[in-house]
Amino acid sequence: MQKMIDGISVKTSGKVGKQAIVFIHGFPFDHTLWDDVVSEFKDEYYCVSYDIRGLGKSEIGDAQFTMESYTQDLENIVFELKLDNPILCGFSMGGYVALRANERESYKALILANTATNSDNDKAKLKRAAGIAKIDAKGVESFIDDFFLAAFSEGFIKKSPQKIEEIKENIMSFNPTGIKAALLAMISRTDTTQSLEKTDIPVLLITSENDKIIPKETMKQMALKIKNSTFISLSKSGHMSMIENLDEFKSAMGKFLKTI
Ligand code: MLT
Repeated sequence: MQKMIDGISVKTSGKVGKQAIVFIHGFPFDHTLWDDVVSEFKDEYYCVSYDIRGLGKSEIGDAQFTMESYTQDLENIVFELKLDNPILCGFSMGGYVALRANERESYKALILANTATNSDNDKAKLKRAAGIAKIDAKGVESFIDDFFLAAFSEGFIKKSPQKIEEIKENIMSFNPTGIKAALLAMISRTDTTQSLEKTDIPVLLITSENDKIIPKETMKQMALKIKNSTFISLSKSGHMSMIENLDEFKSAMGKFLKTI
């Protein structure tokens, strides 16, 4: 079922009343990133996925977003759907939202995929500024072509050009202003590293052997700081873990969910 909650396009799958999992997608995607994962878990869990404000079918409003406003949007969804102690599952930028949400409220468990706790250093900020300039000068397609070279492994780019084209087509339908706003929202995020040692809920950390955007070692260090952590590195995958190695992703998630 799809509905709008305060301008956010939210999709719910499964039965109300079952343990909820809220899926938060990465940049510059939308909830469809999670469709195959949601299909796997919707019989046993109440799965909620949504388009981050300004992306996909969510409203763009004045496009003034921060990581804080993204987190507030997540909390509004949890409140409006009356979710009781949900599990948060965030990928990359969605992980930044989940990590900040974990500082503000308490959740049943976290699933963090290909994400990090550090905020942007100057180099990263300048890279995002260059991304905005690129979208302005050459358009979203050119920006995505570059981004995908870092996001997907070489093997996947060679093996699955159609899948990549499909994802790109979808992003091309978004408002470019929402994509630029997401870059600024990521620049605005705080460092959540300190919260890891205070986190005592179960946390699954999924990384990939060939992640060029957030290296495996970054997530390994995060896992070491969390009391109740499970660390998994997916083989044959770049940054886009749930697309490139869906089977291992689902298997890691399924095993973790059985333990909580
Ligand atoms: C993402 O996949 O969400 C982004 O690559 C994260 C980032 O750029 O920091």
